[in-house]
Amino acid sequence: MTLNPKQRVAIHAANLVEKDMIVGLGTGSTANFFIEAIAKRNKAEKLNIRVVSSSIISASIAKEAGLNVIALSDIDNLDIYVDGADEVASDLTLLKGRGQDLVKEKLLASAADQFFVLVDETKLVENIGQNFSIPVEVIPEAWQLVLAQLKLHGGHGQLRLNSSSDNVAFTASGSLVLDMTFGKMESLELTMILDTIPGVIEHGIFSDLATAVFIGTETAVEEHWY
Ligand code: 5RP
Repeated sequence: MTLNPKQRVAIHAANLVEKDMIVGLGTGSTANFFIEAIAKRNKAEKLNIRVVSSSIISASIAKEAGLNVIALSDIDNLDIYVDGADEVASDLTLLKGRGQDLVKEKLLASAADQFFVLVDETKLVENIGQNFSIPVEVIPEAWQLVLAQLKLHGGHGQLRLNSSSDNVAFTASGSLVLDMTFGKMESLELTMILDTIPGVIEHGIFSDLATAVFIGTETAVEEHWY
């Protein structure tokens, strides 16, 4: 069977899961390949894993694949969280959140003993924010106040719209997203700013969270450990 890089890296990560683990599932096309791969292993090898999902869509795909999906509210720790990313810098800082499930993604990535990030080579960047704007999730009433604060720090951006551009896009937690650009600011400095602005619920820069980034290519998987 010919594998594409996302499938290859997903199978690689699925092979690291051990019996009885609690595994966090990310959201997106790469995470979906991982769900498929781990569901196969779980069934064939009777791994008895439980999974917790970062989104309704991943939970539904996992259930359909026969995995034992447990509620986020039922866990106080997890062994591994596995997810994709939109960008990965050489210090393993990530940009995530093109979807609407940023809050749970960061929560699970922070709580897991190990966070494995699965990407193909197109996701590698020199600086975070190079290819995508930075999602900043805000409480709905505060979006203008937060945008004004971000502008004071050199940011440019706007509210994210839904796919038909006839309404704002709501996240899974009912919040709004500002998609921002900040010129050439260091991701660490930006993280510090975003972490301290009231009204910001979460943002898409994941610093110091990845245990390892696995990069799928046409023929192999490269591992970069933190
Ligand atoms: C969703 C994410 C995804 O992991 C990211 O967008 C990558 O998606 P894909 O695996 O489809 O390329 O952060 O919030």
